[in-house]
Amino acid sequence: MSPTAIVTQRGAADAPCIRLRGVGLRYYGERGETEALSNIDLDIAEGEFVAFLGPTGCGKSSLLRLVSDLVAPTSGTVTIRGGKAGAARRANDFGFVFQDPALLSWRTAARNVQLPLEVVSYPVEDQRAHCEALLDSVGLLKFKDAYPHELSGGMKQRVAIVRALAWNASILLMDEPFSALDELTKNQLQDDLLRIWNAERKTVLFVTHNISEAVYLADRVVVMSPHPGRIRTILPVRLPRPRTEEMREQPEFLSQVRAAREFLRT
Ligand SMILES: Nc1ncnc2c1ncn2[C@@H]1O[C@H](COP(=O)(O)OP(=O)(O)O)[C@@H](O)[C@H]1O
Ligand SMILES: [Mg+2]
Repeated sequence: MSPTAIVTQRGAADAPCIRLRGVGLRYYGERGETEALSNIDLDIAEGEFVAFLGPTGCGKSSLLRLVSDLVAPTSGTVTIRGGKAGAARRANDFGFVFQDPALLSWRTAARNVQLPLEVVSYPVEDQRAHCEALLDSVGLLKFKDAYPHELSGGMKQRVAIVRALAWNASILLMDEPFSALDELTKNQLQDDLLRIWNAERKTVLFVTHNISEAVYLADRVVVMSPHPGRIRTILPVRLPRPRTEEMREQPEFLSQVRAAREFLRT
């Protein structure tokens, strides 16, 4: 059998990791009704890295909430590996990283990473070694006993990332995780994240309003528009991996950034 035949067969048999069909979401609040998302159709493959790009208010955070069953769609369906999103949530399939690292100030770096393991009753005797290995993977083993106030913004966000990976969630939902960081730190964390993703092949949904960040990281960039939030277009990123610092200056990279910017504008 040719390699292509094998790939085709496998593709036909497997449900996508994430599937949204005709998804709409309305919020009913004090200021009336908001149509946050309208008619979203999207398939995300297992192990894919997808960036969501768009201005504030276009429904990016809402979309992550829908995927992880924190809100239910007003119309349409969300399925995770062919099953209900709620079942995936209860199976701890999701790891979250937000703009605010939200570490507990009274716990050390290692104990912050340990927190989700305590919640999912990971074997107690293995927790410490596992947390230390995770911190080591982002160069923070030396800081395992440091408290959050002793860490820089970038270090705190690294702790938040490995905390999200601690219980081996297979889908990583990241909501503008690097937006508050300076340019240099942001670039370093992007490379850290790609290294982790390459090693562990999580499915990653990464929300950002930074065009070059989306292009640098993703396999595909979902460009969104507001009022109501819709998918304007989906751009495949045609850049080889691993992505490198030098690529940021190359014409291929810059032309993809330009293409995404055009779609954001129109
Ligand atoms: N809990 C909520 N109640 C009412 N409206 C909301 C709520 N959350 C978000 N919205 C509205 O839904 C729209 C999309 O919001 P959001 O998903 O936060 O967008 P983004 O993350 O792209 O900035 C916005 O108009 C926002 O004001
Ligand atoms: Mg948001």
